[in-house]
Amino acid sequence: MKKRITVLPGDGIGPEVMTQALKVLDITASKHNLEIEILEGLIGAVAIDQTGNPLPDETIEMCRRSDAVLLGAVGHPKYDNDPNAKVRPEQGLLKIRKTLELFANVRPITTYKVLNSSSPLKESLVDGVDFVVYRELTGGIYFGEKGRNEDDTIAFDNCTYSREEIRRISTLAFEAAKQRNNHVTLVDKANVLETSRLWRDTVKKLADSLYPDVNLDFMFVDNAAMKIIQNPAFFDVVLTENMFGDIITDEASVITGSIGMLPSASVGEKISLFEPIHGSYPEGAGKNIANPFGTILSVAMMLEHFKLFDAAADIKAAVQSALDNGKVTVDIDSVNGMKTTEVGEYLVKTIAEN
Ligand code: IPM
Ligand code: MG
Repeated sequence: MKKRITVLPGDGIGPEVMTQALKVLDITASKHNLEIEILEGLIGAVAIDQTGNPLPDETIEMCRRSDAVLLGAVGHPKYDNDPNAKVRPEQGLLKIRKTLELFANVRPITTYKVLNSSSPLKESLVDGVDFVVYRELTGGIYFGEKGRNEDDTIAFDNCTYSREEIRRISTLAFEAAKQRNNHVTLVDKANVLETSRLWRDTVKKLADSLYPDVNLDFMFVDNAAMKIIQNPAFFDVVLTENMFGDIITDEASVITGSIGMLPSASVGEKISLFEPIHGSYPEGAGKNIANPFGTILSVAMMLEHFKLFDAAADIKAAVQSALDNGKVTVDIDSVNGMKTTEVGEYLVKTIAEN
């Protein structure tokens, strides 16, 4: 099999963790007879610095010609204190999602026993927690009409959803549930919002007609925010709209004990993008201290997307082995933590010898 991947290292620690992820991809590919062609493009602050544009057309073209996109991180502090700046790195992220129609953001919340003691929650609460959030990514308040009135005293951001936008991500969530514990929770605010009522109605009809065997429940987002810290083991597949998904996935990520571990996929009709959940961590850039696992596990998600399950399993097993043997970065082990590159080398060696 041959795959062409566009790699967008981006900002901050993005390039460092990406280098390790590509080493891991390389060894895994050669072990599983997968031929990989890499294209490299610009996004984020580096793209602004070099071209004035957070997502140059050239990058979009590259992505369109590829089977998948691997992204490091986007964001730089020099833009942080000015939300009014006309050009910002995050615009690159929003634009790539919209342009490539990456409508479903899949964020697995996986816990690892060795990290449970680092969770802000009691260990007994996080033990065994394993759920996945399906966040709608190209609709809702993020992409609705926005503006100000003439005398600049009122601003608005419209939230709009169509049944079709709801149906396509919901289908992915139900299909995922069938492979997991058969339980979907739709998180919404149907006691207040009309868009949420459309979500409930659409999801219910889809479930009745095509997924009668999946357990479906509904939860208001404020209640879900509590439940994620009171009883996270309740969840299996969480399905939600864009803004709610943004907020609850940040909340969910910290209960695992390390945000540096978590991968994600943004699935589109034609092409999908894979990236760690963590940001660009500019304070850590260039120090060889960043946790590469989130990006490396994003590579595993990409391989699963290509249906190369054995290859993905090799990567996951190597990460588990690294955790079990303390081959981790300082965010996980502040005393004996290793360098980013050393962790990458351990994984490559483990996969090669496996
Ligand atoms: C995320 C981020 C983005 C979002 C920002 C950087 C625009 O928070 O991917 O969750 O809000 O979607
Ligand atoms: Mg976010």
